[in-house]
Amino acid sequence: MSSHNEQQETWPEQPPDRKEMSRRQFLTYTLGGATAFMGAGAILPMVRFAVDPILHKKGAGEFIKVAETSKINDQPQEFTFELKQQDGWYASTATLTAWIRKDEAGDIYALSPTCKHLGCTVGWNNDKAYPDEYHCPCHGARYTKLGKNLAVAPKPLDQYKIKIENGWVYLGDVVPNTEVKKEA
Ligand code: FES
Repeated sequence: MSSHNEQQETWPEQPPDRKEMSRRQFLTYTLGGATAFMGAGAILPMVRFAVDPILHKKGAGEFIKVAETSKINDQPQEFTFELKQQDGWYASTATLTAWIRKDEAGDIYALSPTCKHLGCTVGWNNDKAYPDEYHCPCHGARYTKLGKNLAVAPKPLDQYKIKIENGWVYLGDVVPNTEVKKEA
């Protein structure tokens, strides 16, 4: 008898009872989770709506239909076009100008009219003393047909990204000039 008692005392303790989740806890967790899920479903679209215009600056990277390719020849011609911009919640329309021309190889390119000296607007063939050049009226900068800087300005005229589709010239972002290299 006594040996049986001793054996009982030396047995390892029974594993503790598994923690049971009470019915109240279960309901609390379930309802809490469902409420959080539904709340996120309602709030996230509102947050996205509020923040989206900040994250996406519209206008950049787009191409605008500007001119028919049949109208482009080897003389620079001025074309204006409108770019709709969305900066945050601010919507605006910018009127842009490009000087478009076909080079000797027949490739079409478009130069920005913004002078690389201090940002005035250049014109083509507008200084009788220097025919067949772009001229800036502000401080006398001059550029070749391809936009190469000849005087005053430190850099060539920028150019637009260009895309030709279905007989139309489309212009995109303004980028540094690559036409001048063809001249060299
Ligand atoms: S801004 Fe064109 S020459 Fe100065």
